[in-house]
Amino acid sequence: MTQVDKKKCINLKLKVWRQKRPDAKGCFESYEAKGISIDMSFLEMLDVVNEDMILSGKDPIAFDNDCREGICGTCGAMVDGRAHGPQKGTTQCQLHMRHFSNGDMVVIEPWRSRAFKVIKDLVVDRSAFDKIIQAGGYVSVNTGGAPDGNAIPVPQDVAEKAMDAAACIGCGACVAACPNASAMLFTGAKISQFALLPQGQPEAKKRAIEMVSKMDKLGFGNCTNETECEEVCPKEISIANIARMNREYLKSSLFSK
Ligand code: SF4
Ligand code: FES
Repeated sequence: MTQVDKKKCINLKLKVWRQKRPDAKGCFESYEAKGISIDMSFLEMLDVVNEDMILSGKDPIAFDNDCREGICGTCGAMVDGRAHGPQKGTTQCQLHMRHFSNGDMVVIEPWRSRAFKVIKDLVVDRSAFDKIIQAGGYVSVNTGGAPDGNAIPVPQDVAEKAMDAAACIGCGACVAACPNASAMLFTGAKISQFALLPQGQPEAKKRAIEMVSKMDKLGFGNCTNETECEEVCPKEISIANIARMNREYLKSSLFSK
């Protein structure tokens, strides 16, 4: 068994949102996280708390996670009122306990948004994002022989911008941080990654209008330039993508008439 260096350990007090079911009334409950190595991630700290709870016959805290490498977009909760916690450009699974001090009180609660219902504790239903993607976040590719690598030249700076937009992992932090619970940073990134590239042009006439209409129908709010989304985004997606989405929306409104 790996030895833990006690000098590198901290004790924390946690206030965690507990909610048994989507329709149940939730509340904050207090726990202690003891002997937490500062080299652990935030999710590993929750694992330690959960192990103690399981051993004492209590229901462990439900939270979403998968890759624990900052790439899948599954993790996420409000930590002391900030989506994904205090470290800029960092997912909750990549947040390390060295950013906390011994004796800290840490408040953990789920994303709050009309479109993201709480399923249990810190787990929310983000299938609304999947519905926005289904509405237009795809390209049609004809089958056949593999095309030549450079048959469609793309300038380097354009490819870089498209890749930056494609870095969105769909975590939902932008929605959770926005006072309007707007999904415009997510939708703007997903529209931009195609709008910038020639491969995205065949569906461009309808993509923005369909994705934005779906976003509105699902109950997300509008953007009022608060920029909270950009501030908390773990992939540092730029709000320039929202401006591009608005231009694409205008273009598709004109073409779809
Ligand atoms: S734009 Fe950023 S915060 Fe929003 S879903 Fe994508 S990665 Fe998460
Ligand atoms: S668990 Fe995959 S991004 Fe955090």
